[in-house]
Amino acid sequence: MILCIGNILTPEQVSRIRTALDDGQFEDGRKTAGWHARLVKNNEQMASGSAQGRELRAEVEAALTGHPVFQMAVRPRRMTPILFSRYRDGMTYGNHVDDPVMGRGDNRIRTDISFTLFLDDPDSYDGGELVTDTTAGEQSYKLPAGSAVIYPSSTLHRVEPVTRGQRRVAIGWIQSTIRDPAQREVLFDLDTARRQIFEREGKTAEFDLLTKSLANLQRFWAEI
Ligand code: NI
Repeated sequence: MILCIGNILTPEQVSRIRTALDDGQFEDGRKTAGWHARLVKNNEQMASGSAQGRELRAEVEAALTGHPVFQMAVRPRRMTPILFSRYRDGMTYGNHVDDPVMGRGDNRIRTDISFTLFLDDPDSYDGGELVTDTTAGEQSYKLPAGSAVIYPSSTLHRVEPVTRGQRRVAIGWIQSTIRDPAQREVLFDLDTARRQIFEREGKTAEFDLLTKSLANLQRFWAEI
């Protein structure tokens, strides 16, 4: 399941983060790429370690994990630190698949879900689409600032060259309590349906049964 989620950040948050990134220090993105991804990766990433960077990462992480649709679709167990990437002057990231395991020591996580949270207005730059390449064909994403696309980390994907302006995004990876994308989709659908029933009819017997099934499926599948 590939899902676009709107309005994760408010316009005020987006503009504050952009201003902070204007002053941020960026470095060659190849530093964090594996040996074959390095061949096709040409972007910049905000240097880690600054106090300001820590604050920005915490703000984006809180907005994501506090978003109900993100919670329903991702069911996060652990998350990598957020990374701020920048593409300009023809920068691009060719086809690749994200590393299956990231981090070191106790901080290692299995990457189940990848996300890209767009920070610049789509009209302010040319190119920079995130393109996923699945058996159903290619799909291209260039979302409004503050919106995110989430996709299984098993997906082959690329970022088209940015030929005008700059494309800044917050990206990251999540280990889900539900490893299998098909199982995550079942839970997402059930959860969506029961919430719609609740909105229409309140806490009915059908709502209770769906809630029970949703909880018990998680008891079968959840890795904690
Ligand atoms: Ni990637």
